[in-house]
Amino acid sequence: MSSTSSTTKITLKTLEAIKRKAERFACVTAYDATFAEIASSAGVEVLLVGDSLGMVVQGHDSTLPVTMDHILYHLDTVRRGNRGALIMGDMPFMSYYSEGLTLENAGQIMRAGAHVVKLEGGRWIAESTRLLVERGIPVCAHMGLTPQSINRFGGFRVQGRDPDQAQTILDEALFLEEAGASLLLLEAIPAPLAQRITERLHIPVIGIGAGKHVDGQIMVMHDLLGITPPDIKVPKFVKNFLAESQTGIRGAFEAFVKAVKDGSFPGPEHSY
Ligand code: KIV
Repeated sequence: MSSTSSTTKITLKTLEAIKRKAERFACVTAYDATFAEIASSAGVEVLLVGDSLGMVVQGHDSTLPVTMDHILYHLDTVRRGNRGALIMGDMPFMSYYSEGLTLENAGQIMRAGAHVVKLEGGRWIAESTRLLVERGIPVCAHMGLTPQSINRFGGFRVQGRDPDQAQTILDEALFLEEAGASLLLLEAIPAPLAQRITERLHIPVIGIGAGKHVDGQIMVMHDLLGITPPDIKVPKFVKNFLAESQTGIRGAFEAFVKAVKDGSFPGPEHSY
């Protein structure tokens, strides 16, 4: 495959316009040039170089072992394969615990080809968000089931089921929007809560296991293709789009994009 420069066609403005028109956008994780090309050519608007790579690429049982070097390596490959999607780079576990480290690491992620950095957390990431945004680095805040905190949660558990916790998630989402976050990603929370948050926020909201009433849907690429390693428990919000594809892997990505945009995915069977 020949390498091309990654001129971004999709920008944050594109995603904001999609939200304003009450339409939807599609996002997937990507970890290499080949799949970045396939997904972006299929119409996926956002490619996430996620720390899920620790589980689906490296074979760990959590995302905690992922380092900055790993993210930078995979970002560089995704950047070369990308055909116009917005690239989001994950800040790995413990890479944003101080101001200096946050700026240094986010800067490296942007230099490696990301257009947005993603941080997991609630109110406590507001200062980092402000700091980054002031310096021109857009932030996606990741809330709900934040995999870097599984040891605190006691496993991969749905968040926001009780009313107090749901209110906290809503309040903190508003707080992070106020702090300057450009995107919010909600993972594994009840669909009605995700809908409430999406209606209250002006920034685009991306969901995974958060029901259909959000602005964008994201899925881990391996889940979309039904090739998640068998020792990883596949959550109910996952759908294998390769199983029904008549045109192989490209067709699976195209079917995912179409299903997100026409609202047929996720269905109630994929939601909490
Ligand atoms: O790291 C990742 O792939 C993610 C997605 C599950 C949203 O954060």
